[in-house]
Amino acid sequence: MPVTIVVGAQWGDEGKGKIVDMLAQSSHVVVRYNGGNNAGHTIMNEYGEFVLHLIPAGIFNPETYCLIERGVVIHPPSLVGEMNSLEERGISLKHLMINPCSHMVMPWHIAEDQGNESNGSIGTTLRGIGPCYKDKAGRWQALRIHDLLNKTDFVKKFDSICLQKEKELHACFPQQDNMLSHLESIRCSYLDARERILPFIGDTFGFIRKSLASRKQILLEGAQGTLLDVDYGTYPYVTSSHTTSMAGCLLTGISPVDVERIIGVMKAYVTRVGEGPFPTEIKGEQHNKLREIGREYGATTARPRRCGWLDFPLLRYAAEVNHFTEIALTKLDVLGTLRRIKVCVAYEDTEHLLNSLDILNLKNKKCRYQHVYDGWGNLNGIRFRDELPEQARIYTKSIEEDIGVPVRYISIGGKRKEIITL
Ligand code: GDP
Ligand code: IMO
Ligand code: MG
Repeated sequence: MPVTIVVGAQWGDEGKGKIVDMLAQSSHVVVRYNGGNNAGHTIMNEYGEFVLHLIPAGIFNPETYCLIERGVVIHPPSLVGEMNSLEERGISLKHLMINPCSHMVMPWHIAEDQGNESNGSIGTTLRGIGPCYKDKAGRWQALRIHDLLNKTDFVKKFDSICLQKEKELHACFPQQDNMLSHLESIRCSYLDARERILPFIGDTFGFIRKSLASRKQILLEGAQGTLLDVDYGTYPYVTSSHTTSMAGCLLTGISPVDVERIIGVMKAYVTRVGEGPFPTEIKGEQHNKLREIGREYGATTARPRRCGWLDFPLLRYAAEVNHFTEIALTKLDVLGTLRRIKVCVAYEDTEHLLNSLDILNLKNKKCRYQHVYDGWGNLNGIRFRDELPEQARIYTKSIEEDIGVPVRYISIGGKRKEIITL
């Protein structure tokens, strides 16, 4: 079976970009299937260090096709910025293809996101993601990539929706700038982006179908993480798309029977950006140390990430929701710099496997910490699992035993090569 899905097991930023970049070397095609430029996927390889927001992390392999599928919401000016900066650094875009049914993030979506956040906070990335998905489901005020094909029709639709949206936004957020006063310039930024994007619009669905028929390796790149899923996550402190493995099938038209591997990417500890419950969140000096050594600042917004101990109940939940066949464990090097390391093995008065009510009640859960490890220090240069210090080996084994999924990759640095494959 030719399909592999890479999905975040926690609240995002687990290191998916690094894992996809590595696996892309043996993939015919990499497909981004959800989210938008709220994502920030960091890649460090022989071409340098990059943060991708919309373009699949397979773009560094010249043989690999990179598709942006219909479930991704695209902010055209940002996509063009990303395309240009990759090309300026010598990365070819010749295998990039965009599904015409992808929805576009518009300036009014960003304004609405900002307005909502000024009233009450989810801690979004302010990229207009939620309002764009809302209009997608709402159907009447949406613009999709194929709307760019005919310039005159696009301008008409753009102007008419902008007018309606300005009225709605003004009623809700009277303090905000009037969009109509700079209608001309915002329209222009979309028309400029249009010119650049048009040649990349293509039949991604047909391409996937043909790749499947010839049993080519297909890699699906998830954005965000399981606990940010709009249905399975810590609602309302989630993103507005489906972030789980099955969404990979839904949004690419791939049958689950064609999926061989579902790789859950997890950090050796937990981080979260934005608001919402976080049972194992660490406070104080250890927290700051972890944040600094792990460089835990958002790849999209540069906001400091909240850091916490590994949470087995939530990992078991993620393994169940996604049906992981294997784990990619990242940042084991960072965690090992702490003197003492704890793991939450269960929540008080809660069953081994969390149910929907437990997720709903996460903010009231009390953690039971059991394992305590001594930090294992430097992991530089380690190539094999049995070269790992004993405490790091035990830590890894306890993850496998607790969630019942084998650890297939152990990442010990940000660079492509800093990985142990098992
Ligand atoms: P993504 O959104 O899941 O792709 O993850 P991000 O790129 O937002 O955040 C992961 C951060 O950790 C990036 O800065 C990576 O370069 C870095 N990283 C990934 N794996 C490792 C690792 O094993 N060790 C260290 N030290 N850094 C890592
Ligand atoms: P990657 O793909 C971490 C979080 C935001 C906020 C919530 C809703 O890099 O792992 P949104 O802008 O989506 O409406 O914000 O979701 N969030 C992420 N956190 N990594 C991400 O993506 C995220 N994308 C969204 O911080 O809490
Ligand atoms: Mg990220």
